[in-house]
Amino acid sequence: MSIVLLLLRLIHIVAGAFWVGAGVAYFLYFEPAAKGLGPARSKFMQELIGKYRYPIFMNVSSLLTILAGLALYWFSSGGLSMAWVTSGPGLGFTLGALAGLIAFGIGFFGIRPRAQRMGALGAAIAAAGAPPTAEQGAELGRLDAEIHAFERWDVILLVISLALMAVSRYLTF
Ligand code: HEM
Repeated sequence: MSIVLLLLRLIHIVAGAFWVGAGVAYFLYFEPAAKGLGPARSKFMQELIGKYRYPIFMNVSSLLTILAGLALYWFSSGGLSMAWVTSGPGLGFTLGALAGLIAFGIGFFGIRPRAQRMGALGAAIAAAGAPPTAEQGAELGRLDAEIHAFERWDVILLVISLALMAVSRYLTF
């Protein structure tokens, strides 16, 4: 295997493990635990986002996975040969790649703008030094529910992508 392929696989698999692992851990553990904190939740989220830069970690790991994955796809398919794409491994890697790409789209276009809006609302509420107005409370609740729904799909697709990546090489039909 050439050094380029070796490096691409290294980047792809390590970044992919970080991306899926952090997404699943956030959805199953950090988010429910943060919800249980009541009013301290917003402080926890500020630390996670502002100080520990969780969104940057997710953006970098997902982008590295996808860019290295696209390059691997190009090499593995011999420059998009249909014979490879329709083979067992080709179909598996293609469906896995699609699941990963849709998950990325959901994160980037669905979750990211809503999380940014939530952050801006939280900052405005903190600056006012008063409890949220009824309107702000309703918007926060709506954003929260929408983000959670997007996250559920994101995690499902990430796990599907990971599972297909894990087995596709051995799908011989
Ligand atoms: C969701 C995140 C992803 C994870 C955790 C992941 C993980 C992996 C793993 C562990 C392998 C090694 C499989 C093996 O050698 O048998 C692999 C291979 C591969 N992945 Fe992904 N992957 C992800 C997303 C993607 C995406 C989005 C693409 C394309 C855009 C892609 C394209 C590929 C290709 C083409 C291979 C085969 C490389 C080769 O033939 O050596 N993957 N992936």
